[in-house]
Amino acid sequence: MNNFNLRIDGSIAFLRIDQPESKVNVLNTETMKELAEVIGKLSEGAYPEVKALAITSSKDGIFIAGADIKEIQHIKSTEEAIEKAEQGKKILQRLADLDILTVAVINGACLGGGFELALACDCRVASFSDTVKIGLPEVKLGVIPGFGGTQRLPRLTGLTNALSLILAGKIVSAKSASRYGIVDKLFPDDKLITDTVEFINEILDGKTKPDKKKKKLLQVFLENTPLGRMLVFSQAKKNVLKQTKGFYPAPIEAIEVLKRTYGGNLKKGFRIESEAFGRLAITDVSKNLIKVFYLLEKFKKFPWTPEDIKPKAVKKCGIVGAGIMGGGIAQLVSYKDILTRVKDIDHDALATALKVAKKLFEGALKKRKLKKHDVEYKFGLISPTLTYDGFKNADIVIEAVVEDLSIKKKVFEEMDKNTSPETYLASNTSALPIKEMANATSRPEKVAGMHFFNPVHRMPLVEVIKAEKTSDETLAAVVNFSRKLGKTVIVVKDVPGFLINRILLAYLNEAGFLAEEGMKIDVIDKIACKFGMPMGPITLIDEVGIDVGYKVAKILEDSYGERMKVCSVLEKVKSKGLLGKKAKLGFYDHKGRRKPNKDIYEIIGNASGDIPGEEEALKRMIYVMVNEAARCLEEGVVDLPETIDIGMVMGTGFPPLGRGF
Ligand SMILES: NC(=O)c1ccc[n+]([C@@H]2O[C@H](COP(=O)([O-])OP(=O)(O)OC[C@H]3O[C@@H](n4cnc5c(N)ncnc54)[C@H](O)[C@@H]3O)[C@@H](O)[C@H]2O)c1
Repeated sequence: MNNFNLRIDGSIAFLRIDQPESKVNVLNTETMKELAEVIGKLSEGAYPEVKALAITSSKDGIFIAGADIKEIQHIKSTEEAIEKAEQGKKILQRLADLDILTVAVINGACLGGGFELALACDCRVASFSDTVKIGLPEVKLGVIPGFGGTQRLPRLTGLTNALSLILAGKIVSAKSASRYGIVDKLFPDDKLITDTVEFINEILDGKTKPDKKKKKLLQVFLENTPLGRMLVFSQAKKNVLKQTKGFYPAPIEAIEVLKRTYGGNLKKGFRIESEAFGRLAITDVSKNLIKVFYLLEKFKKFPWTPEDIKPKAVKKCGIVGAGIMGGGIAQLVSYKDILTRVKDIDHDALATALKVAKKLFEGALKKRKLKKHDVEYKFGLISPTLTYDGFKNADIVIEAVVEDLSIKKKVFEEMDKNTSPETYLASNTSALPIKEMANATSRPEKVAGMHFFNPVHRMPLVEVIKAEKTSDETLAAVVNFSRKLGKTVIVVKDVPGFLINRILLAYLNEAGFLAEEGMKIDVIDKIACKFGMPMGPITLIDEVGIDVGYKVAKILEDSYGERMKVCSVLEKVKSKGLLGKKAKLGFYDHKGRRKPNKDIYEIIGNASGDIPGEEEALKRMIYVMVNEAARCLEEGVVDLPETIDIGMVMGTGFPPLGRGF
């Protein structure tokens, strides 16, 4: 066998998966075929001494990462998809039917098809290691589990738990998996095999049985009564629609499959699952989500600098400006266990930043992402200051003061004087030239842009800006640091608005022109949301802040001229002193349930033309983005179209649905 190694030790057969020339194990046609052969031999009694089969992996930190996504990507028809799912299920069912004890020994990532294989075993054990990650993330690729996951998981952990795992594609730690009852035992990493052998022998000797978690009373009512189940499914559907706004069919299909199959015949359930998988695997949504998955993988390690440049690690970070962004960055950096010193000129700003950070940490505690002592430790890593005391020790200082070039240049001069010559200096500016800030220092080669998105803890992108004199060493360190913070990185050129804001502002302006022409603001927002944008453009302006949005829009108008002319409605709303959501009034009234500001149409004034139709409005908003993206490519702001794809999806929530008009 190419992918497996079978070793028989007394009454236990160890089957180790180890795909050659690959860091991970995936279930593809070849591995499934070889697995089928081993199972065939075991079921035919080729090894009569064998009483138990332990399936594990030889890869570090990986059990089986899933089914081969390339094979799913290349599926061309529903029939082909159904056939693949049925074939896989047949093999796993033969594993489930073996009359010896079968144990999945999970030493790392156990996802998708890998977890479905583990589910087909009699029991599952895992190591305590952080590398153990278990789940069925198929919905994230626009499909549902196809190797029996929707049938076996609810049988093991109950309907409500299975729904919560499958619908969100949730991936859980070993400990959490144990709480769900989806692993029977946890063992220390270095004793995983020896302890598993002991566990198997105890079962074989009749001394122990795999644990069966007892359902709580409420769970029994919800899962075992028709009324309870009706409640569970309708609540699940409501939650999914709230999350996906109806753009992603996979979780809805998963609910339907479970509704039709829960508590029923396994074989029938398998077929229903395969058919749903077949319908989903050929959709544009699935193909595009798979594309995004590959792009994310690519950009996780994309070499933005020559390979011989080793990035210097950031252990201490300074931040200047403790507003929305500076405060957010401080929280994120400390969350990642990095010492963070944050400076502002305003005592209250520092107090607010700490308050906001504390709230985020407490939220993580509530969600059980952190323990109480973690929260205390991490929060304790942030120290506020009104001076530059302590900045000499920083490996990097990130500037996040107001969007004003003369202020930023002054702050860069200060940062230059108050840090070690080795310290990297970065700006979180939305649109201003990094070059100008770099030239205000004695070390322009150590200056780069590090553009986070709001809210910092949630938005997954950092746009790193390579200015004229930024050295490769600096770039490598900033890219590496951004990745350490858990972000996807794109590197772009130092042009006004860089990549994302340049494209986004064209869209926001176009929305403003539509309002100028008499289209209602909530209608404009609805059109964009119907296309799949996470929020409408006018709502977005209110979220960002009309003052901030206006400043950025002005910078782009000054740089690009007529094409980026700031729409008059933004000028008018700004001149009324409206700030948007932070002051509860902007285009919308944010007091209570959000509604259009009652004076907004008076402020905007009379319609300047015929009101465009919905389709035309949408095309105008999307096409200006496409045009600006094409210009960015042409001008070499980025080298690859994929950089724009991933930047827009991660930075703005642009829907990766492959939708036309
Ligand atoms: N708000 C967003 O959505 C967003 C998103 C990405 C980038 N940005 C950029 O991040 C930067 C900060 O934006 P924000 O929204 O956090 O602004 P903000 O107004 O919330 O915060 C700015 C902070 O800087 C402080 N400050 C001003 N001058 C200072 C100085 N000389 N030294 C130290 N602190 C000083 C202010 O007291 C204030 O607390 C801007 O460049 C902005 O364009 C903002």
